[in-house]
Amino acid sequence: MSQFEKPSAGTEVPPLTRPLYAIAAMAKNRVIGCANRLPWRLPEDFKFFKQTTIGHVLLMGRKTFESIGRPLPNRTTIVLSRQTPPVASVGGVDVMDSLDMVPPAPTPAAPAVPAPLPSPPSSATSLYWLSDWSQVLAVEPEKKLFLAGGAQLYAEMLPLCAVLFLTHVEAEPEGDAFFPDYRRWFDDGEVLIKSPESTPPFTIRRHLRLP
Ligand SMILES: NC(=O)c1ccc[n+]([C@@H]2O[C@H](COP(=O)([O-])OP(=O)(O)OC[C@H]3O[C@@H](n4cnc5c(N)ncnc54)[C@H](OP(=O)(O)O)[C@@H]3O)[C@@H](O)[C@H]2O)c1
Repeated sequence: MSQFEKPSAGTEVPPLTRPLYAIAAMAKNRVIGCANRLPWRLPEDFKFFKQTTIGHVLLMGRKTFESIGRPLPNRTTIVLSRQTPPVASVGGVDVMDSLDMVPPAPTPAAPAVPAPLPSPPSSATSLYWLSDWSQVLAVEPEKKLFLAGGAQLYAEMLPLCAVLFLTHVEAEPEGDAFFPDYRRWFDDGEVLIKSPESTPPFTIRRHLRLP
């Protein structure tokens, strides 16, 4: 088993066929959200999020997607949900829902390379609405796959991520969505951006999965 093949309890995840990157912003009390919103507004952090994820694939839970309200431009968005897509188009983008669109990722017995999908150029905005992990792993495999929240998805998948881009927000807001104790699985991280002047101040670190 590789370091990526450790499904957390209760989550049916096939062995990962590609690295998973996590990206999140967390307060000192581990709050990441309140009433399905972010508890802060940090334009510089948004800019980092955009620069890091542009042209790649974002994976998010249905509630996080609803809080954003549309697929983010110039990226592929995968919404994970056990429900069927509500409509065929969201924010002007066609919803590609599951089974007939995405071939299943290979089982361990099959070749380790997912069947290639027709990939849009990096400037394209796409929206997939999927219900299981084998489909998620097969989406545009040549791109980076970013786990983008929310609390449920981080709880299920953070232990499987290879890299964690984490914004440490110097605040202790009220909240109802929390980040897992990432220090169980990740190193202390390298500082990428320090913003002591912003309100609240924050530091972005890149944490690597412990061996
Ligand atoms: N600070 C940050 O970096 C950050 C980032 C993202 C989000 N957030 C915050 O996090 C909060 C939302 O988090 P949340 O925990 O409430 O919701 P969430 O993780 O965004 O979404 C949960 C939903 O995802 C679907 N889901 C979860 N696991 C699944 C699985 N294994 N298979 C299929 N579907 C699955 C289910 O959708 P169905 O119910 O449709 O089946 C579930 O109800 C918000 O406050 C948001 O602002 C913060």
